[in-house]
Amino acid sequence: MTLKGQAFPDGFLWGGAVAAHQLEGGFDQGGKGLSTADVMTIGGNGIPRKVTDGIDPNEFYPNHNAIDFYHRYPEDIKLFAEMGFKAFRTSIAWTRIFPNGDEDQPNEAGLKFYDDMFDECLKYGIQPVITLSHFEMPYHLVKEYGGWRSRKVIDFFVKFATVVFKRYKNKVKYWMTFNEINNQTDFESSHALFTDSGILPKPEEDNEKLMYQAAHYELVASAEAVKIGHKINPDFQIGCMIAMTPIYPLTSKPEDILFAQRAMQTRFWFADVHANGFYPKWLLNRFDEKNFNLDITDDDLKVLREGTVDYIGFSYYMSFAVKDTGKLEYNESHDRVDNPYVKASEWGWQVDPVGLRYALNWFNDRYHLPLFIVENGLGAVDKKTADNKIHDDYRIKYMTDHIREMKKAVLQDGVDLIGYTPWGCIDLVAASTGQMSKRYGFIYVDGTGSLNRYKKDSFDWFENVIETNGAEIE
Ligand code: BG6
Repeated sequence: MTLKGQAFPDGFLWGGAVAAHQLEGGFDQGGKGLSTADVMTIGGNGIPRKVTDGIDPNEFYPNHNAIDFYHRYPEDIKLFAEMGFKAFRTSIAWTRIFPNGDEDQPNEAGLKFYDDMFDECLKYGIQPVITLSHFEMPYHLVKEYGGWRSRKVIDFFVKFATVVFKRYKNKVKYWMTFNEINNQTDFESSHALFTDSGILPKPEEDNEKLMYQAAHYELVASAEAVKIGHKINPDFQIGCMIAMTPIYPLTSKPEDILFAQRAMQTRFWFADVHANGFYPKWLLNRFDEKNFNLDITDDDLKVLREGTVDYIGFSYYMSFAVKDTGKLEYNESHDRVDNPYVKASEWGWQVDPVGLRYALNWFNDRYHLPLFIVENGLGAVDKKTADNKIHDDYRIKYMTDHIREMKKAVLQDGVDLIGYTPWGCIDLVAASTGQMSKRYGFIYVDGTGSLNRYKKDSFDWFENVIETNGAEIE
C-alpha cells in the first residue's frame, strides 16, 4: 500500500502539547501557590537542576516567568489556530486551584484563568486536552506531607480533580491523570522521584520502595478520579500518560531477550494497572521478595479495578537497549546500553522513528484501547537569522520520519490512534534542564528578554500537514 495520498481518519486530533509550569509563568499571580516546579533552578546539558527549600533569591528559577503564556495566551492560541490545531494539550497547575493543596475551598482566580483560556481555544474550534498533574504539585504538600509518600495526598488530588472536572465539564472532553507516571522507574536519578511524586529521599531511605509506594497512591488517586469523572460527565475520556521508550534486546541471545522483556515489564507495569485494573503477578512477587510491605489495601484494589482508563496517552522521544546482566532485575539507572543502530540527539536521546510504530503496535496488542500520542519532538538549538527566520529543517525531518511510521501503524497495521500533539509546540522551558535553548516549537520564543514570538519554517510545514490530514507524508 502506498502512503502518499492516504489521509488519517476524519476527526484525527492534530495539535500541540505543553505543560502549565513550562510556559505559563505568573508563578505568584492570581493567588497561585508555590509548586515543586517553582523551586527548581536552571540546569544545563548534563548539569542537574537543584531543588531548593523554598525560593533562594540568589538562584534563577526559569519556570517563574517561563514564556509568560499567563498573559500572552490569546496571541499564542491565535497562532495555534493559524496552524489549524484541532487540539491543544496543556495541564492545569494544581497550585492555581489549590495554592497549598490542602485548602477547603478552591481559588476562584485560578479557575477563572483556565475558563478564559479554554474559551479562547474553543473560539477557534481547538479542544483543550488536559493533564491534571504534569510534573508539579503544591510545594506545601511536599513540606507538610512528604509528597506522594503520604496516603493523605490521594484525597487532596481527588478533590482537585473533582473541582476541575465539574468546572470544565462542558469545555474539556479528553483528560489525563499523571504525566509520565512511569518516569520514576529511574528512581536513582536525581529528580525522577521529585518531578513525578514530590519526593526528596533521605539518605537512609530505599528509593525503590518509596517509588512503588508513591506510584501505588498515584494509581489509586487516578482510578478514583476516573470513576468520579465518569459520573460528572459520562462523555469524558480519561486516560493515563506513559513515557514510552521501547527497550530492545541488544542481540538475539535468549538471555538478552528475556532481560529486555523484564525491562519492559518494569517500565510499563504502570500502564497495566491503569488499563487492566490489577497488578501483574511478577511484580507482586517482587514486592514479597524484597519485603516491601507496601500499604496496599483491599479497598485500593477494588478502586483500581473500577477506575480503569479510557485510552492510553503517551509520549515518544526515543528507544533504549539492554543486554543480560546475569540477574532478572532491571535497574533503569544502570542497565541501559547504547543501540548502535540509532543516532542520538545533542542531548543524548536516541532518535528512532521505527520504534514509534513498534510502540503503537505494542500498546495496541497489549491493551486494546485507543491510543493518543500526546508528546513527540526534537529538542534542538535553533538559530534565528538577521531577518527573523528560523530554518529548522532537522525538526521537519524528525517529525516527517515519525509521522510516516505513525501512518503505517494506523493505515497498515490498523492501530486505533486518535491524535498527535507534538511536544512544545511553542518554545518553552525544558523540564530536565530548565533551558530555553533546548527548543521543540513551531514557534520560536525570544527567551532573552522580549519574549517575542516568530514562526519557524516548521510552522508552515505543520500547517500543511494538518490541512491535508497527513496525506502528503510518504
Ligand atoms: C517529557 C515531559 O518528559 O519530555 C515534558 O512530559 C518535557 O514535560 C519533555 O518537557 C521534553 O523533555 P525536556 O527535558 O527536553 O524538556
